[in-house]
Amino acid sequence: MIKKAIILAGGNGSRLRPLTDVVCKQLLPVYDKPMLHYPLATLMLLGIREILIISTEKDLPFIQHNLKDGSQIGIKLHYAIQTEPRGLPDAFIIGKEFIGADPICLILGDNILYWGQLNLIWNECLSVQEGAYIVGAHTREPHRFGIIECDKNSNVLSLEEKPIHPRSNIAAIGLYFYDNNVITYAESLSPSKRGELEITDLNNIYLKKSQLKAKFLSRGTTWLDAGTINSLMDASNFFQIIEDRQGLKICCVEEVAYNMGYINSAQLEIIANQFGNNSYGDYLRQRLT
Ligand code: TTP
Repeated sequence: MIKKAIILAGGNGSRLRPLTDVVCKQLLPVYDKPMLHYPLATLMLLGIREILIISTEKDLPFIQHNLKDGSQIGIKLHYAIQTEPRGLPDAFIIGKEFIGADPICLILGDNILYWGQLNLIWNECLSVQEGAYIVGAHTREPHRFGIIECDKNSNVLSLEEKPIHPRSNIAAIGLYFYDNNVITYAESLSPSKRGELEITDLNNIYLKKSQLKAKFLSRGTTWLDAGTINSLMDASNFFQIIEDRQGLKICCVEEVAYNMGYINSAQLEIIANQFGNNSYGDYLRQRLT
């Protein structure tokens, strides 16, 4: 089973300037918590507790300040710098030592998911021994994303980056599961015309070997893209509506840690009290009753 993951949280965030002149994209608020907490909660819900967070030299200290070594929420966090946005496969080159001889999960630091039920399809991805899984979701705007075409057995037939004539409406969302060969394959890539190592080129290596499968999010799971000002606002509004309505938070990492048994009630109480008497602290205290 995959037990380690990388969160790639660097990049320029140029579409979100001037906000990202002040704070990196992944620490911008999505309603009541930093964006990065959403992919982190996703990994924790998948049972992954050993995580490497990669960000820029400027932004990594702020992320470390927020999440520390992870032990307060029962996980183990490692940190590394990406000096320039050299592309997503660079995560496996930077993370080579962290990965060691294990399979690995990659999630982008701006990947926001609202899970319905985490069901068994994830076990298949997590137990990958040979090959890779990419995760896709329906989109109305296929020309904006990497698009996945599949047969009925989930085998990927083609991958296209921002196609003019898309072969499907399924976009790659930024969540991947790879066997250990991913390090060698990433190291073999050359930068594309735009000067980056491309995740599509990496996935095409698996595709050529007939070792690439895809899993699609069901309707009960929502994927939100917060790369532009309007989509960031939409994501905040989405979680405000859901959390207000049900009185339960989504991707609250402290609550996830408690529900998953990573921390006990005494540890949750300490965290809740560190928040003082604000609504987030009150919410965590309510989980204890
Ligand atoms: P993008 O959305 O492609 O880029 P960005 O976040 O820098 O935003 P913009 O297009 O507005 O400039 O990146 C997706 C995610 O991957 C995001 O969380 C940043 C991260 N990323 C890296 O950490 N390193 C990289 O080399 C690249 C290409 C992206």
